[in-house]
Amino acid sequence: FISMDFLTSLLVIISIVWICIISLSPNPRARRLPPGPYQFPIIGNILELGPKPHRSLAKLSRKYGPVMSLKLGSITTVVISSPETAKIVLQTHDLLFSSRKIPASVSAALQHDKFSLVWLPVDNQWRKLRKICKEQMFSAARLDASQGLRREKLQKLRDYVRDCSETGRVLDIGEAAFTTALNLMSATLFSVEFAQFGSDSSQEMKEVVWGVMKCVGSPNFADYFPILKSVDPQGILKDAVICFGKLFKIFDRFINEKMKCRGGNNDLVDALIDIHQKDEAQLTINDIKHLLLDLFVAGSDTTSGTVEWAMTELLRNPDKMSKVRHEIRDIIGENKQVEESDIPRLPYLQAVVKETFRLHPAAPFLVPHMARSDVEVNGYIVPKHAQVLVNVWASGRDPSIWTDVDLFRPERFLNGNDQIDFRGKDFELIPFGAGRRICPGLPLAHRMVHLMLATLVGNFGWNLIEGTKPNDIDMDEKFGLTLQKAVPLKAVPVKL
Ligand code: HEM
Repeated sequence: FISMDFLTSLLVIISIVWICIISLSPNPRARRLPPGPYQFPIIGNILELGPKPHRSLAKLSRKYGPVMSLKLGSITTVVISSPETAKIVLQTHDLLFSSRKIPASVSAALQHDKFSLVWLPVDNQWRKLRKICKEQMFSAARLDASQGLRREKLQKLRDYVRDCSETGRVLDIGEAAFTTALNLMSATLFSVEFAQFGSDSSQEMKEVVWGVMKCVGSPNFADYFPILKSVDPQGILKDAVICFGKLFKIFDRFINEKMKCRGGNNDLVDALIDIHQKDEAQLTINDIKHLLLDLFVAGSDTTSGTVEWAMTELLRNPDKMSKVRHEIRDIIGENKQVEESDIPRLPYLQAVVKETFRLHPAAPFLVPHMARSDVEVNGYIVPKHAQVLVNVWASGRDPSIWTDVDLFRPERFLNGNDQIDFRGKDFELIPFGAGRRICPGLPLAHRMVHLMLATLVGNFGWNLIEGTKPNDIDMDEKFGLTLQKAVPLKAVPVKL
């Protein structure tokens, strides 16, 4: 016969021993988290990000491996830094990694995350918006039909640069590329011209778009500690509301004008309004406004930033600059404008663009993905809701993939390596991402980047500002969601 007291004591002892066993033995799930640096209490690894997170995380990955875990305040973050692991995330488990980690700045700005092609999870609304973009804007047929509009804007770039060359004026190449990108986009979307070269409005627009990138991409304490959202310690949420608000105001005006005066241009906005008028529930005016904002922001400074980096590298490497120029002039002819259909005939120009994407990918971490469930990668568990950063900048500078990693050598993409492409199949070069969230604007970006570069290099010689040598050109970067030149590139065009 056993007393109740004895039974109770036995139960208590068993429970204590059980709790000790559980708490002392490593949690099998935690044990399989990817390796990473020591996580400090509360802040985790925030201090390790530094002002250039793509560089600091690439350095850490060399120590901890191509699947690395960090804690940014309360956010578990997994950093992917090799082509093999990027392929697992973006191809093998594409759907499981297809959601987005929403920055607090995006939801603060008119709840952009609820309507946005960039931030929605892969759901019916996202599929609908992607389909509309593909059918109405980015299909080869649509792009061919709108190329006359872009030809006109490139001619304006050429006239503007010629004007500077005749008067010996110094040109801000990033600003000229941004104005052109903006006008190429607005021509394709609205059939109107958005900005004037060298104008305050163009500069202001550049600052607003960069403001959005900065608010969305810079490290933000309100993301790491959601309790701080209402305090907004760095003022990023407030800035986001201002920058997004300015853009929404512009698109409101365009949409209203289009609604009042229907017919005529048959551009993207006309097509969107048609869809809206046929079935309001299918696409609301609010959806259209958010979509236009996405396309403008995602398409303008990525494209112009790439052209600015390409010109920077070419000015640092005059022999490569003259090689591009000779190719264009030999194959297309002197004083002829390169057409979109000419691009396949210009292999060196294409190699220059690839090399620029390798060294300066516009979005070094892509747009942050998020795991929809626990997923195994390389034997580790990426936990549900973890933020996943694919560090394409790190793959571009990985010495086990590329020789002379820091040198600008477009030739590496010629002679047998010309098959390596950036359309999401070769994971060592994925500046546009891969899989279902690959950049939908790739076909337009491809045309815009090659043609802007061909216009700048094929028609003009370039001199550095007096007293500057090629190696003196400032290469510093500024980090937002995109990676821009910190100091604008300025040079003097010379008529050939
Ligand atoms: C998404 C790169 C130009 C529209 C993206 C992503 C990257 C990217 C890396 C994220 C992919 C991912 O998260 O896996 C670039 C680069 C460009 C460029 C390097 C130019 C050099 C454009 C243009 C447009 C555009 C011209 C439109 C006019 C978008 C949109 C998304 C996106 C809407 C979000 C797609 C989604 O989340 O489903 N882009 N992009 N981009 N891009 Fe681009």
